[in-house]
Amino acid sequence: MNLEEIKELDKKYYMNTFGDRVPLAFEKGNGITLTSTDGREYLDFFAGIAVNSLGYGHTRLVSELCDQVSKLTHCSNVYYIENQARLAQMLVENSCADRVFFANSGAEANEGAFKLVKKYFYNKKRPQKHEIITLKNSFHGRTLAAVAATAQEKYQKPYAPLIEKFIHVTAGDEKELEAAFGENTAAVMLEVIQGESGVIPMPREFVKKARELCDKYDAFLIIDEVQTGVGRCGRLFAHELYDVKPDIFTVAKGLGGGVPIGAVCANERAASAFTPGDHGTTFGGNPLATRAGLVVLDELINGGILKHVCDVGGYFKSELEKLAEKHGCIAEVRGEGLMLGVEFTEDIAKAVGDKMRERGVLVGVVGARVLRIVPPLVVLRRDIDVFVRTLKSVITEI
Ligand SMILES: Cc1ncc(COP(=O)(O)O)c(C=O)c1O
Repeated sequence: MNLEEIKELDKKYYMNTFGDRVPLAFEKGNGITLTSTDGREYLDFFAGIAVNSLGYGHTRLVSELCDQVSKLTHCSNVYYIENQARLAQMLVENSCADRVFFANSGAEANEGAFKLVKKYFYNKKRPQKHEIITLKNSFHGRTLAAVAATAQEKYQKPYAPLIEKFIHVTAGDEKELEAAFGENTAAVMLEVIQGESGVIPMPREFVKKARELCDKYDAFLIIDEVQTGVGRCGRLFAHELYDVKPDIFTVAKGLGGGVPIGAVCANERAASAFTPGDHGTTFGGNPLATRAGLVVLDELINGGILKHVCDVGGYFKSELEKLAEKHGCIAEVRGEGLMLGVEFTEDIAKAVGDKMRERGVLVGVVGARVLRIVPPLVVLRRDIDVFVRTLKSVITEI
């Protein structure tokens, strides 16, 4: 099918949740290159929103997934699943977590984290301790509890009344955070780098303060690592950059390298709240998704990709900073590893994104002023050079 035919079907049969999409459809990918249905190639610095961590057509991932599909894609969690147990072990052995539960997406992993916290205090006979603090401009997903946690009016308004007792505080404001705590605070959930609101890193002291306050008030610190985790920021999990250990962290996106998977990772104290029947899933942790997770984590930890992210991420940021020095229209370059944001001084982000696409480079656009750059973790310096050259020529033209 060509793009026009796909578009026609979409407009007729698909719910109108995505509006007028970017006028492109892709047929295949290789490395960090995507090929559209009309045969044009694009360098992808968006990676399906920080998902395709090993890029496209990664030889080992493809071969292990084909092998798994030929053997067993799904079986119920009624039975033991080797890949699931092994991936849980790998996550635990490489993080501060003691136990893992697998879901199918980021929102679902966050739901699992909320339920875990509520169940913990229910077990302790303190069900009134159920308030969860989240940050303004956060993004935690699209299910109802995740929307309630997501402190942005545009996502919440149509679904009011929302699930109660999410308290929203200004990101980075320690005083407001402290004032929001009380004896009924069950948890704080935060992203150490807010992705959907424009790659906004939290100040170190703020994250440390959240940890301190959680300890003081017997509450859980939940870090949403759905976007920042699995190597994206140059560490396996971005909270490592902050020297803070969460009680619970959630991951998804990059973990499956393109195969849907989410995970709730928790220390023993939190994890012990779930007993048989409290939580569950049909698809979560299936043999295929967890095989993908095993390959991705092994490539990151043992295959050198984590180190590669630090190397190319540092290079990328410094090249963008050099560009910012020469071009007054760039207000700021921020982020860590391969999760970078470029903020402009004027509302030109969409025009820049469109023109870059016309020149064969895909990038995310957040709001009116920010480019969100989250390429596959296997991006090379020479790809980065193409990106920076293209950005330079586009902003010069604009
Ligand atoms: C930080 C964060 N949390 C949660 C989610 C929701 O993940 P999903 O779309 O897989 O449900 C996202 C998605 O963008 C995210 O960036």
